Amino acid sequence: MKLLPTKIITNFLTDNEVDIIKGYDGYDPYNLWTRSFDMGSNTTGDKELSVWGLDNEQCTEARVIFENAIKKHVGDDIILNTWHILTSYFPYRAHTDGLWGEYGLDEKDYPNGYTFVVPLEDYDSCTIVYDQYQINDKSTATFMANNDPIDSIDNEFYEKYLTHESRENMRYFSVNTVFSWKKGNCLIMDRFQWHGSDHFHTKIPEKKAIIAWTTIKRSL
Ligand SMILES: [Fe+2]
Repeated sequence: MKLLPTKIITNFLTDNEVDIIKGYDGYDPYNLWTRSFDMGSNTTGDKELSVWGLDNEQCTEARVIFENAIKKHVGDDIILNTWHILTSYFPYRAHTDGLWGEYGLDEKDYPNGYTFVVPLEDYDSCTIVYDQYQINDKSTATFMANNDPIDSIDNEFYEKYLTHESRENMRYFSVNTVFSWKKGNCLIMDRFQWHGSDHFHTKIPEKKAIIAWTTIKRSL
């Protein structure tokens, strides 16, 4: 399978556009879900993340701004399937954002899609995109069972960004892109591509971004 190219788009949204969309963060308490889990001694909090969905028609103003930016910077063949404001309190480990049938990904007609990440402020944090991908399973255990370690990520990089990850897991990945979280900039990456955050929780209490999952009406 061909992957969509990873890109960083500076000034994808203006400060004003970001602030308008940010105004929808928390507008409807019924539109929130939170994921909590036991993080042991890694953090003083008990929340991993909160999500405010933006698919509701009350968010149309925000949707128009975002879809216009997609058209302007990426193309008019992108379908915005679902999007939300993510507040992240604890780092995401390496994962993918897509399986067939999930949020518009369709093996026959629209098999490919981008994830969009647009930070709502400047944060001392980044998203790390790996070169590797997986299309039929989101489990790192499956990926490790089907691939050999490549030992591309050295100890220096691991200590700088990735101490929340298992060192053994990181033997199987190589780094494609490091996206620094700057307000209004945008990371786009193939939804099947492995990615995760850095260990920002050692530096800041939380961070917020627009996360959008799309499909693309184009055969690669
Ligand atoms: Fe993701």
